[in-house]
Amino acid sequence: MTALTLSTAGAATLRADALVVGVAKSGKTLAVAPGAEVVDQAFDGGLAAVLETLGASGAEGEATKLPSPAGLKAPVVLAVGLGSAPEDGEAYDAEALRRAAGTAARALAGAKKAAFALPIASPEDAAAIAEGALLGAYAYTAYQENGQGGKKPLGEVALLGAKPRDKAYKAAAERALTVAEEMNRARDLINQPPNDLTPAAFAAAVQAAGKEHGLKVQVLDEKALTKGGYGGILGVGAGSENPPRLVRVAYTHAKAEKTLALVGKGITYDSGGISLKPAGHNETMKCDMSGAAAVFATVVAAARLGLAVNVTGWLALAENMPSGSATRPGDVLRMYSGKTVEVLNTDAEGRLVMADALTKASEEHPDAIVDVATLTGAMVLALGNRTFGIMANDDDYRSAIHEIADEVGEQSWPMPLPADLRKGMDSSTADISNMGERMGGGLVAGLFLKEFVGEGITWAHLDIAGPAFHEGAPYGYTPKGGTGSSVRTLVRLAERTADGEL
Ligand code: BES
Ligand code: MN
Ligand code: ZN
Repeated sequence: MTALTLSTAGAATLRADALVVGVAKSGKTLAVAPGAEVVDQAFDGGLAAVLETLGASGAEGEATKLPSPAGLKAPVVLAVGLGSAPEDGEAYDAEALRRAAGTAARALAGAKKAAFALPIASPEDAAAIAEGALLGAYAYTAYQENGQGGKKPLGEVALLGAKPRDKAYKAAAERALTVAEEMNRARDLINQPPNDLTPAAFAAAVQAAGKEHGLKVQVLDEKALTKGGYGGILGVGAGSENPPRLVRVAYTHAKAEKTLALVGKGITYDSGGISLKPAGHNETMKCDMSGAAAVFATVVAAARLGLAVNVTGWLALAENMPSGSATRPGDVLRMYSGKTVEVLNTDAEGRLVMADALTKASEEHPDAIVDVATLTGAMVLALGNRTFGIMANDDDYRSAIHEIADEVGEQSWPMPLPADLRKGMDSSTADISNMGERMGGGLVAGLFLKEFVGEGITWAHLDIAGPAFHEGAPYGYTPKGGTGSSVRTLVRLAERTADGEL
């Protein structure tokens, strides 16, 4: 894991393999961002001109390496683009800093230590840079000697200009480290191949982390699920050699006034089941447990941050496989709630496992339930690969989560739950079917889940099918593969709940 230090050393004197500076577009020219004054001086005030000659423009995503002139201890200067420079007197956008730091950390894979001299105007800026750098340095190496390209991730991030003796800066940096490490925990789980990350293996990982961080972990195995009547989770897991689990992982705080329940979809592999997905649609379906990974990571983060709120995570873990014992299209499942569901498409499995977990979570009467799931391809069609959809039974709560996501640098958009789409799920045999109209498929899935939320409980549903797994080239702090989508939003939501603001 990449280390984080706050340093009071000057940019010129700190011992590091590289010195990271920010550059921005200012009109038609390139401007060196604050924090890099000393570096610019070492270039006799000509850093911007040198970079322009090298073809740099200050655009987001740009990374230009150049050898240091005399006077700088670090042998290499790395200039990263911050996009357009802010208006005079205004600070850089936190997300621009986060992305630039991520780009820098990726460009410095293989280096032991880099000093970041990016513009810092507040503890929040320092946190954004730390987060971006630690997230950008991430590589999934469990099944390879080294990371991608054979280079080890950047070993240490030294933040310059972050005032290590100032309490607010120290706290912001510690929080950033925790959030980034927990996002990387989620990424590791998402990236782990599904032959190894079975429901039981996922549950074991939760038990291990629970021990380390003082969490209460309860695991319902297939026997307990059968005894308890969890027809949704069992029905989805029925075709697999790897039986399902329902995991409850709880963080409690002595002074907590509120309890937030988080429910995560944990399909360790989604083949579609008997309604098998065609080739081209199943290669990345190890990512279908991203919701459960985000929930788990958030509960651990809440514990590490000592938040004054109870956070209860519910992980609905199953593998969706076709076999002689698999649920068939046409089967009727009796859910944990007692409702019956006609399964018309076994590939709409997420809502089945989530329904049982939502009913169970509701029994404890939490102040709110937020569920997270890679639930529908329809949401990806609607919002693209980088934005998650937010649905809720409470407009204010939905808006609050959308604003929180904005604040922490996660793209999201509020989506409706139109009542007219409910009748498409009417079944001639059961109380409801797991399929509805094709149009608005993401909202149909949301409406299905809504039926399993306890009366009077505030509930929101995040469909992260788009942003959970990144298939393209890495950008900013986002690597290929699992992204850790929604962790930052959920952690901030827990903090707001602890503060009594929600
Ligand atoms: N896990 C998928 C949704 C998904 C799609 C996640 C793309 C990530 C990327 C889900 O279980 C699924 O298969 N949904 C179906 C539902 C349909 C059968 C009603 C879908 O979206 O096609
Ligand atoms: Mn599916
Ligand atoms: Zn799925």
